[in-house]
Amino acid sequence: MVQIERSNVQGLIFQSFNYPLVGHFFFQFPDGAAAREFLKEWVPHVTSAAVDIKAKPEPLLNIALSWQGIQKTGAVDDRAGAMPATRAFRSDFRDPPNPKAMRDSGDSAPANWWKGQFVSEDVDVAMFCYCQSAATLAEQTAAIRASASRLGIKELVPSSDGEPLTGRLAPKGVLHFGYRDGISQPQVNWEDAPGRPDLVDLRRFVLGYGEDPNKPIPNREPWTGLVRDGSYLVLRWIYQDVAKFNKFLRERSKALWPNMPADEAQELLAAKMMGRWRNGTPLVLFPNAPQPDPADFMRNDFDYTMDPDGERCPFSSHIRIANRRDDELNDRNKSMFPSGTPRVLRRGSSYGSTLEGENDDGLDRGLIGLFLCTDIESQFFALMRWINETNFHAKVDNQHGQDPLFGNRTTPDRSDEFEFQAKGEKHVLTGLQDFIRTQGVLNLLLPSVSALKQMATPGA
Ligand code: HEM
Repeated sequence: MVQIERSNVQGLIFQSFNYPLVGHFFFQFPDGAAAREFLKEWVPHVTSAAVDIKAKPEPLLNIALSWQGIQKTGAVDDRAGAMPATRAFRSDFRDPPNPKAMRDSGDSAPANWWKGQFVSEDVDVAMFCYCQSAATLAEQTAAIRASASRLGIKELVPSSDGEPLTGRLAPKGVLHFGYRDGISQPQVNWEDAPGRPDLVDLRRFVLGYGEDPNKPIPNREPWTGLVRDGSYLVLRWIYQDVAKFNKFLRERSKALWPNMPADEAQELLAAKMMGRWRNGTPLVLFPNAPQPDPADFMRNDFDYTMDPDGERCPFSSHIRIANRRDDELNDRNKSMFPSGTPRVLRRGSSYGSTLEGENDDGLDRGLIGLFLCTDIESQFFALMRWINETNFHAKVDNQHGQDPLFGNRTTPDRSDEFEFQAKGEKHVLTGLQDFIRTQGVLNLLLPSVSALKQMATPGA
């Protein structure tokens, strides 16, 4: 059994920090000395999983590094003659974000990322600073920037106004496009208690304990210490085209159900695309209408046994792809995922002002998604593949195309069709559009506190 020392694990791994504001800062180290000094200054402020955030201490700070950043600190100098450090770090983390694996093509291609201000490979370190008020965020921004500037560290700002990428706690958890988020997360067996198949193994989210609880931990010392108690964190900065989505919902729902009140028709189409009504109510439990009581709309205690043909919740709806629960995989995917569905911890935030209606104001808004896992390829990339090519399911195999909300319609395996059932009728909705656009991706490691100290003072 593994016993995780919470004070050594960065807080985001154990919980979402649902604070009103989060500043995302990106920096490029000029050299190792500056990298180490910067970490020495900021690592003491890192919020671990031992901190009780109920009393709302602020700011909460977590720090993540890219492979280039870790190398610059000098903590993985292979000249020691030990086994190559690369064996402790997976190649999908060391490689630049892989657009092919994530299906980031067309407007979402890397050439368009970061508003052209920098490229993903420039980022050595990312800091996530969660604050209760704009005043604290401004204070922290000034302090972080002053420290970077004193050490000659370049800040990489993906905007023309010089403001850091700032996420906001979505009002009542409702994101752009109007869906409530924050309902479903993997229930993790943090205590590593035996005989809990109902919980997800902590090894899916915490590095350094081997991949299989029944196998010994691979000896990758001295570098294992740099990954143990950490997690890989994929940051996806996603623009959401609210005006386009609203127009699509209105026009297409009217064409589908001309005799239904417009609001009701739009809610029904939106629900079919997500797998939950926009207020969160799971379609599989309540196929006819959203429920007003949080005890119903926040429910997560369901699987798809009662909906084997996707009559209630379409097979390609977002949540049925992103967590297939008890749905059977096809043979190819069964052998690829012997331990079941790929799961990720989601720790994102919404950004940009709310837009209603169909007139685009040209402002940037969307989601800054932080996805945590220990195997980017078989957890995060697998879900991205399924979102874009839903041929993982035993029943539908290659018929169902893509996630109607978040699929990229410029990929070679694209589909602009959404097949679903509603009110006892089958529908094939054609002409799906790109409602989102990837604006930047980073592959990062959210190291343990002890690993961060090791990077700040290698050899200490
Ligand atoms: C703009 C982009 C996205 C938006 C607005 C969005 C929104 C949502 C919403 C509203 C839910 C339902 C609420 C909940 O279950 O807590 C959800 C669930 C989920 N999403 Fe997304 N999502 C986006 C992109 C992604 C991507 C790229 C992934 C890839 C890994 C993903 C993975 C998941 C997972 C794993 C769930 C939980 C499903 C479940 O357990 O039933 N989402 N998302």
